[in-house]
Amino acid sequence: EMLKVLASVVLEYWPEDCGNPAVKPKTPTQRVVNGEEAVPHSWPWQVSMQATLLPPIPYLHNCGGSLIHEEWILTAAHCFIPLNKPSLHRMCLGKHHMNSSMDVPSVEKCLQVDKIIRHEGFVYEQDPSDITYDIALVHLSEPVNMTREISPVCLPKPGAVMPAGTPCFVTGWGDEKGRHILSLNQAALPVIDFQTCSKPSYWWDTLRPSMICLGRLFIPQSAGCFGDSGGPFACSVAGTWEVHGVVSFGPQGCIKDKKPSVFTRVSAFSHWIEDSIRKFMYENNKAI
Ligand SMILES: *[C@@H]1O[C@H](CO)[C@@H](O)[C@H](O)[C@H]1NC(C)=O
Ligand SMILES: *[C@@H]1O[C@H](CO)[C@@H](O)[C@H](O)[C@H]1NC(C)=O
Repeated sequence: EMLKVLASVVLEYWPEDCGNPAVKPKTPTQRVVNGEEAVPHSWPWQVSMQATLLPPIPYLHNCGGSLIHEEWILTAAHCFIPLNKPSLHRMCLGKHHMNSSMDVPSVEKCLQVDKIIRHEGFVYEQDPSDITYDIALVHLSEPVNMTREISPVCLPKPGAVMPAGTPCFVTGWGDEKGRHILSLNQAALPVIDFQTCSKPSYWWDTLRPSMICLGRLFIPQSAGCFGDSGGPFACSVAGTWEVHGVVSFGPQGCIKDKKPSVFTRVSAFSHWIEDSIRKFMYENNKAI
């Protein structure tokens, strides 16, 4: 009975208005090979996750993330190596320029964190050959107010797999060489099917069904890493943007033939996301 009550709470708790940016992103039909600057605030779920070694040392951008709810951010588990303490992180929303003084100040919101939930199966720190379960949730200390510049992305349907060739967008402040750039960039990267990406000459057995590969097979210079670790890979499904991937890992040096970028497939973790949020709400006596 209790579980039934909790299940209905979580379903009602989910944002209805998601994946619908007030400022429309530019979605060129002609793919831009090396990424391009995004229309400011057209990816309003994009998070700049920032960490400090020890306050008051300034925070530095270290990963991307996706706002999926007024209190929750979806990202990669490896973003919290080695800093796994909520007090060392803050989540900045409504950003376009990395340098805040170039953004409209009232638009940007940086919020404190009170909980980091990494997937229990993430064992990369003990075994660096295993990068499965590279997914995490971050709980904000207070709910963020939705604005024109800040709004959530939708989650995909459980188990949904985007077919090869679907154009989707990776966004972030990292460029194809793994450097940080000054304004938010986007790149349309096609999905590479599992069968191809798990061939011995590609990622072979490093690739698991809970991952997705993205890139362009015939343009090796562009098959590198875009965005930032933890950041979104979003696809427009019937006019609504859904987060299908979380940037997980790419080849060393970022650009290498037959080593496309690998993302955690969000639809493989639908139950984990709901269960983790439900457990957190239950433990914190939230909204029950
Ligand atoms: C940020 O932008 C301001 C205003 O354009 C500039 O004065 C400042 O030097 C920039 N800071 C950095 C770290 O680039
Ligand atoms: C959201 O708006 C309310 C009411 O204006 C305000 O009290 C609160 O501090 C805002 N929250 C954040 C995180 O900005």
